[in-house]
Amino acid sequence: MTATPTRDTHRSVEMFERIKRSIAGGESSYARLRSGIELCIERTDGARMWDVDGNEYLDYCLGYGPLFFGHHPREVVDAVVEQITNRGYHFSFPHRLDYEVGERIQRLVPSVDLLRFTCSGTESTMAAMRLARAYTGKDRIIKFEGAYHGWSDLHYINYHPPLGPVAGTAQAPRVLPDSPGIPQAVAETIIPLPFNDLEALERTLSRRSFEIAAVLIEPLLANCGIIPPLPGYLEGVRRLTEAHGVLLIFDEVMTGFRIAPGGAQEYYGIRPDISTFAKVLGGGFPVACFGGTAEVMRLEANNEVMHGGTYTANPMVLAAANAVLARIERERDTLYPRLFQLGDRLRTGLVRVIREAGYACIGQGVGPLFQVFIGRGPVERLTDYRSAMAWVRPEVYSAWHEQMQQRGIYFHPGQLERWFLCSEHTEADIDATIDAAAESIRAVAQGLPPD
Ligand SMILES: Cc1ncc(COP(=O)(O)O)c(C=O)c1O
Repeated sequence: MTATPTRDTHRSVEMFERIKRSIAGGESSYARLRSGIELCIERTDGARMWDVDGNEYLDYCLGYGPLFFGHHPREVVDAVVEQITNRGYHFSFPHRLDYEVGERIQRLVPSVDLLRFTCSGTESTMAAMRLARAYTGKDRIIKFEGAYHGWSDLHYINYHPPLGPVAGTAQAPRVLPDSPGIPQAVAETIIPLPFNDLEALERTLSRRSFEIAAVLIEPLLANCGIIPPLPGYLEGVRRLTEAHGVLLIFDEVMTGFRIAPGGAQEYYGIRPDISTFAKVLGGGFPVACFGGTAEVMRLEANNEVMHGGTYTANPMVLAAANAVLARIERERDTLYPRLFQLGDRLRTGLVRVIREAGYACIGQGVGPLFQVFIGRGPVERLTDYRSAMAWVRPEVYSAWHEQMQQRGIYFHPGQLERWFLCSEHTEADIDATIDAAAESIRAVAQGLPPD
């Protein structure tokens, strides 16, 4: 028998009870926590965090991904402290960091001639959708099942939160708003399609391009586990959008600056018309942006399309972004190869030990952004939301997560989430994680045996 260690988390439990008395559901963002084992965090450092009971965790969730250089790296803290103590933290006027960060993004992402800052990924994708509609004079937008672009009425549609219901067939999904309160009329502006299916895209564009403004895509699906594009798929999407007079929006909130300095568009060699960035951009500070070709962004430059916000281009968050991007520019030649090597070592190690325990397991992802799927049956890869959903055994993943958390390894409990690596993870961390994973999955097998 593999004994399950149990950590004392009574202070977390008590604190969470108190939080729930003022904060609805105890959290201010949907499904961050796993019900029943909520952790309240006291402090963090590098790749580690400590809960209010003093338990240490190696962190592979990293605040949902922004902490590319770990928790509060020195240069980001110094840049922000210098800014807010000596210069101020809210201007609503143009300032030096506007061009410093703007020029860094232009250098890193060549498809971005011009950009605008926002405060979140959700705002960026909303702004990109409005811009595409204004530019083309058309209303509908294609998005893919299982892709997440934020929580607004405009696009919280056919994402299907944790293994939610689907409608229509796999090749022709029906529109399904993912939350009560989203008007059906707004949802109907979206045309949902399966990811990695060029025929479905071609069919739809051939019939309906007269009413389609843009294809909005996560170039690598990172919100239903990790589902990479099949070889040639993104090239096909670019070719078809160009041929049909439809804009291509890359939502790089998850992939931007992470899988390559220039994001997925650099990694896969595709040039979109509009891109969105957040997460890594601010290293944990709430800053995001959208940008694109001078031709499309002309509408923003002339203020012909409304985009605004009290806090946009706030100097505090831009000081953070400046420090993050400066480090990326400085260290790009060593940083990414190292993160890819660590990511591959961890992903393959986890898959190996889970398979050794008798489970079917697939690891998918790119370097520091991956997921291990635990499922049923002989499948080599998962290529879209529905096939992933049909294959996985979320109860096994969840039980494995619980065992890992008891052993001081933290990642998001959802099977359709993913693991992140940061610059502060070491080879020793990776090896310790694989050892813990082996013990944990053996413990799971006692209660939830492999098929
Ligand atoms: C691909 C993608 N787009 C947009 C968003 C929304 O970003 P935010 O949470 O900053 O609003 C997310 C968040 O995880 C995301 O993964």
